[in-house]
Amino acid sequence: MVKPLLDTLSGAADPEGPSPVWLMRQAGRYLPEYRALRAEAKDFVRFCLSPDLAAEATLQPIRRFGMDGAILFADILLLPHALGREVRFVEGHGPVFEPLERPDEVAVREGWQQVTAPVAETVRRVRAALPAETTLIGFAGAPWTVLTYLIEGGGSRDHMRARQWAYGNPAGFQHLTDVLVETTVEYIAAQIEAGADAYQLFDSWAGALTADGMERWSLAPCVAIATALRERFPDVPCIMFPRAAGPMLTRFAVNGAFAGIGIDSAVSPAWAATALQPHAVVQGNLDPALLITGGEAMRSGVRDILAGLGGKGRHIFNLGHGITPQTPPEHVAELVALVRGEA
Ligand code: CP3
Repeated sequence: MVKPLLDTLSGAADPEGPSPVWLMRQAGRYLPEYRALRAEAKDFVRFCLSPDLAAEATLQPIRRFGMDGAILFADILLLPHALGREVRFVEGHGPVFEPLERPDEVAVREGWQQVTAPVAETVRRVRAALPAETTLIGFAGAPWTVLTYLIEGGGSRDHMRARQWAYGNPAGFQHLTDVLVETTVEYIAAQIEAGADAYQLFDSWAGALTADGMERWSLAPCVAIATALRERFPDVPCIMFPRAAGPMLTRFAVNGAFAGIGIDSAVSPAWAATALQPHAVVQGNLDPALLITGGEAMRSGVRDILAGLGGKGRHIFNLGHGITPQTPPEHVAELVALVRGEA
């Protein structure tokens, strides 16, 4: 069975074919059918942990736009939630945690996998309903990005407290990282066993670290996760997304642990083609603002990315970060058609 996205990651894609396409946050509030579904569960954590609702949210963008990849509907903060750091999503504000006071407040907690078991059930239901050619993508947050939320008590502009913990108490920070590496491996393994074809690690805040800090707190733990999973599931590729990593992206690409590297919109396609693409499949990187803008601005952005990265069987079309709620769904339909050469 031809699965264009999985085949691209495995190096088996037809170089003549169009770049496979999926979009970060392709399920979400920009879709009216998502807003209607979301109204069925007040609490976002409960929504994510209801396999019926989460499977439906995963499938909505596939039905409407037919992307090559379906990303599991869940959240990167469900794992720490299962480890006893309870998350609340506050309407109009975002995720909130009781901020960590000490590194030893996080440990591998007995029974945590029972909390995340519904996520694997979502994967099973999606797999059963998905067209055979659609790649099902599991995911988790990278340890550093998850830890920023735990340490700061939620989202933060500069991640100052998390950076100070990492630089000032490396032993304590290593403990936190180790707990997340160990549990993330099991969390993704459960998604793969339930039917995920590939998985992505989101390091949304990698760019907040120094180059050395990124090597230690972003690259090293993500390599550890991908290496452990490759031993167990040699055919399941990892897409690493170290957002705003800049020139450090080459360190991720040459490592060999990741079949794909996600790039943000600040990276030029020409640079990525020479610096990254010889080592890994490159995923990206339309500015989400161009998807909102639409029209010729969007079309020319798409053309530039395809000219720089497409046509070699080593590119997955995506945004440089997630779709935002004000995005017109018609622009998403046009984007998918453009990438496929149908518009
Ligand atoms: O379509 C998909 O991409 C699948 C599901 C998905 C969600 N979150 C659903 C979600 C994925 C892959 C994520 C990843 C995620 N979650 C990241 C990494 C990617 C990135 O954007 O950098 C991060 C940092 C989070 C943490 C998170 N979740 C925040 C900061 C917020 C609040 C901000 C916001 O957009 O509201 C969330 C909530 C969230 N996760 C929503 C969705 C659809 C919106 C909440 C809602 O629908 O009520």
